[in-house]
Amino acid sequence: MSSLTIKNLNKIYNPGKNEVHAVKDFNLEIEDGEFVALLGPSGCGKTSTLRMIVGLESITSGSILFDDVEINDFSPEQRNVAMAFESYALYPNFTIFENLAFPLEVKKNSSSEISKKVGEIAEMLQITNILELKPNQLSGGQQQRVSLGRALIRDPAVFILDEVMSHLDAHLKFQMLFELKKIHQTLKKTMIYVTHDQMEALALSDRVAVMANAVLQQFGDRNDLYHRPKNLFVADFIGEPATNFMKAQYSQNSTMKISGDLQFSLTNEISSELERKQMSEAVLGIRPQNLSLDPIEGEDYIQGELVINEFLGERSILEIKSGETSYKVLTDPQKNIKKGDSLKIYYKKENVMIFHPETEDLI
Ligand SMILES: Nc1ncnc2c1ncn2[C@@H]1O[C@H](COP(=O)(O)OP(=O)(O)O)[C@@H](O)[C@H]1O
Ligand SMILES: [Mg+2]
Repeated sequence: MSSLTIKNLNKIYNPGKNEVHAVKDFNLEIEDGEFVALLGPSGCGKTSTLRMIVGLESITSGSILFDDVEINDFSPEQRNVAMAFESYALYPNFTIFENLAFPLEVKKNSSSEISKKVGEIAEMLQITNILELKPNQLSGGQQQRVSLGRALIRDPAVFILDEVMSHLDAHLKFQMLFELKKIHQTLKKTMIYVTHDQMEALALSDRVAVMANAVLQQFGDRNDLYHRPKNLFVADFIGEPATNFMKAQYSQNSTMKISGDLQFSLTNEISSELERKQMSEAVLGIRPQNLSLDPIEGEDYIQGELVINEFLGERSILEIKSGETSYKVLTDPQKNIKKGDSLKIYYKKENVMIFHPETEDLI
């Protein structure tokens, strides 16, 4: 078991004219036994970061520490990090038992030890009944379990999973996520779960590191990311349906004007911050969950017209147009409203997020 510290980590591929700066000044501290997700769109540098932790890729600059010991110059074996990938990479001619036993045989464990450990891991992953089969006789979900098992059986200091659920269908994914969470609770190992899917990241982990364009954007729990996104990227990437954003002008009387006579009221705190920074323009964001058709006592509303009522059984996603701007609103199921209806959308001032128009940081 190990804590993991990453300091000013950089990865530059092909230094020179065609270089790719895949990881930029990356800093992260993961506690011993913590379950952290590394979340970000494809190509943002997740796998490059992991490969440097595992020791499969050279570090351009910066350092990686396990329990305060720098491991930059350690071989992958010395680091003792287990990694599982999206592709299962099982040995096709080995039985499942032999696939699981392989890492232990490499370590020269005795055959009775091997049988015992394979039995334990198989039980935990509920694959005891398929140990004598070959990989091509298994379903995708079963192969994924064996792949996890083969990484777990090594008893690593740190355990890394890179996009391991990406190809599973939604039902199986939920089941595996649930099991993975249980496994973590049993083993209490430091785990890094890499994904581009916010649902997986938020469902599983204690804390989520959000990455974009080679840079760590924010590291926090789901409350931080959802309620206190550091910038526009995080506000946009986290949450479903996506946050409503609009360009807005500040108009001295604690409101932001959008277009026409549409305006949003602001809290005193944010208004004085905008005045202090002498900001006349900003990007305003409000989550669909924070807009409501029910009046909110003492709070403001905007007037709009219903464009789409997407009725999803347990809830509705409404698209409402006000002036030139359309808003998504997430509500209780709405059966009795139709296109063209005039509606009032209520919101709490405190839920209006304001971002700097250039830096895109939260004000
Ligand atoms: N071996 C490599 N040589 C050159 N560029 C690479 C190499 N591996 C990855 N990259 C580039 O680095 C960036 C980050 O890639 P990667 O770490 O795989 O991102 P992610 O895992 O988030 O999808 C991408 O632009 C990718 O094309
Ligand atoms: Mg990747």
